[in-house]
Amino acid sequence: MNVTLTVNGETRSAEVPPETTLLVFLREYLNLTGAKTGCDIGDCGACTVILDGKAVNACLMLAAQADGRDVITIEGLATREGLHPLQKVFEETGALQCGFCGPGVILSAKALLDENPAPSKQEIRNALAGNLCRCTGYVKMIDGIQEVAETMRSVPTPALPAASKGEQKHG
Ligand code: FES
Ligand code: FES
Repeated sequence: MNVTLTVNGETRSAEVPPETTLLVFLREYLNLTGAKTGCDIGDCGACTVILDGKAVNACLMLAAQADGRDVITIEGLATREGLHPLQKVFEETGALQCGFCGPGVILSAKALLDENPAPSKQEIRNALAGNLCRCTGYVKMIDGIQEVAETMRSVPTPALPAASKGEQKHG
């Protein structure tokens, strides 16, 4: 079957067997290997991507369920200007060790901050509850996410020019 979706702002499609998971679709058909295969049963969060603004486990979804929808993977976060603030703070503070959980943790954090720009530590912990990390104690991650939230809130959002007012897309 054909599956077509928007990944990191680009339309991507492939012919896949109907049982193909979203994780396999991204990794093996689109060569986007940032989402990791950990447990493959929904326990570890290494496969986390953002689907229509929500963090989801890509190993638990069929690619067909994401057909026509909007996906963000870790490959979509950095821009020409540099790393996403979450990637930067994790790098600068050494919040990750082996890094295997990193893409999933960062995308869970991004989905949280997109929805809640001022999360409490407990809300950050809740957002990361599905992301297992075997190397760290999560402390630097949680502090880093809170730091990014504060920095992002202090940067004023530029006003839209009158001519380009129109539909804005979340996330
Ligand atoms: Fe998807 Fe572990 S690989 S939750
Ligand atoms: Fe190794 Fe999280 S840094 S699993």
